[in-house]
Amino acid sequence: MQHIDPIAAVDPAIHAAIQAETRRQQQGIEMIPSENYVSEAVLAAVGTVLTNKYSEGYAHKRYYGGNTHIDTVEEIAIDRARTLFGAEHANVQPYSGSPANQAVYMGLAKPGDVIMGMALNDGGHLTHGHKVNFSAKYYDAVQYPADPQTGLLDYDTILAMAREHKPRLLWAGLSAYPRQLDFNRFAEIAEDVGALLIADIAHISGLVATGLHPDPVPVADAVTMTTHKMLRGPRGAIILSKEEHARAIDKAVFPGLQGGPHNNVTAGIAVCLQEASSPAYRLYCEQVLANAKALAEGLLNHGLKPVTGGTDNHIVLLDVTPQSVTGKQISEALDAAGITANANTVPGETRSPFDPSGIRFGTPAATTRGFCEDEMTQIAGWVAEIMANPDDQQTIARVRGEVQDLCAQYPLWY
Ligand SMILES: Cc1ncc(COP(=O)(O)O)c(C=O)c1O
Repeated sequence: MQHIDPIAAVDPAIHAAIQAETRRQQQGIEMIPSENYVSEAVLAAVGTVLTNKYSEGYAHKRYYGGNTHIDTVEEIAIDRARTLFGAEHANVQPYSGSPANQAVYMGLAKPGDVIMGMALNDGGHLTHGHKVNFSAKYYDAVQYPADPQTGLLDYDTILAMAREHKPRLLWAGLSAYPRQLDFNRFAEIAEDVGALLIADIAHISGLVATGLHPDPVPVADAVTMTTHKMLRGPRGAIILSKEEHARAIDKAVFPGLQGGPHNNVTAGIAVCLQEASSPAYRLYCEQVLANAKALAEGLLNHGLKPVTGGTDNHIVLLDVTPQSVTGKQISEALDAAGITANANTVPGETRSPFDPSGIRFGTPAATTRGFCEDEMTQIAGWVAEIMANPDDQQTIARVRGEVQDLCAQYPLWY
C-alpha cells in the first residue's frame, strides 16, 4: 500500500486526487507502451528521506557535506547499471529521458553540428531532431524516415542520408516503431561517415537487459534510457557510455545541465535494477513480447491494420484510417471504456499530430499486472468493437464494465 495517509490532514485535495488516480490505475487497462507499475519496493525507495539531501557532484567529489550514504546509493546504482548492461560507464543522475539526451548532445556535440535521428512521425522521439525540440533548434537536425508503405526503416536510405549530411551524432531509438532496431547496421553506418552512434533504448531497455533485443552497448558510443518504462523503475534516466566519453557526459549532466541529483529517485533506480537482474524479470520481458504478438494477431484477426503487419517488440501501432476513424476519436472512446492508449502518427502521416491516423498500444504495464495472451485477445476484441462503433455509448459502457471485471481479477498492489 502507498503511505498516503499523512497527506489527508495537510492537503485533502491532493490526497483525494492520488486516491482517485490509484482507483483509475486499478480499474483500467494501461496500454500506453511507455508506462508501467513500479513494485512496492521501488515506490518505497522513492518516498524516503533521501529526498532531503543535496549532493551536487559525483560520489566522493560532492559540493556539500553529509553525503556518505548518498554516495553508497549512487555507487550501487552505477554498479548495477554497468553490470546489467555490460557498460564501461554509467551516469544515473539525469532527471529524465529528455535531459539525458540533452546531456549527450552537450557532451558529445557542439551547437550547430549536424545530427540525424528517426522522424517523430515515423516512430522516433522529439529529442532525436524534431523541429519543435531543442535538438533541432540548437543542432542542424536531419530526420530519416520509415518507408511509408511498409512502415519499416530502410538502412540503405539511412546510409545514403548519412553520407550526404555527415552527422556528428547518429541517433538510433524508438518511441513508436514496432520492430527491432539493427544496432550493428547503425554502427556500420556511423563508422562509414565518422559519426558517433547514440542508442536511445528508453522503450526497449528491459528487452536489451534480458537479451531479448539486439544489444547496442558493445557498438554504440553512448546509450540512453529512461528508467520508468519497461525497466519498471521510478521516473529517471541512465546514460551508459564508452569510457572515452565518460568525462564529457558526466560534465554535461553536472554542472552542464543539472544541479543536485534526485537521490530518492537514484535509490529507486538501484532497486529497479536489482529487480531487473532477476530471472523473474526475464520471464516478465518474455511475456511482454508474447503479449504484444498476441495483441497484434488479435487485431489482425478482426481485420484491423497494425503498422508493419505486427510487432517484434512491446509496441503495436494500429493504422485506423481503413476504418474511417481517427486516432484521437478511438483513443477517447477507449479511454471512456477504461482502456488507455494514445493517438499516434503513422509512417507517411497525412493528418495533424493532434488527431493523427494511428493509435499506439504497448504491453509492459498490463503484463506487470499479470495479463497473458488470453487477455490480449480479449483486449483486441474490445478495441475492434469500439472501432466499429466509437460513438455508441452502450457499447462503451458495457466494455467498461467488462474491463473493470477483468482488472478486479488482477489487482495492483497499491
Ligand atoms: C525513445 C525515448 N527517448 C526519450 C524519451 C523522453 O523521456 P522523458 O519523457 O522522461 O523525458 C522518451 C519518452 O517517451 C522516449 O520514448
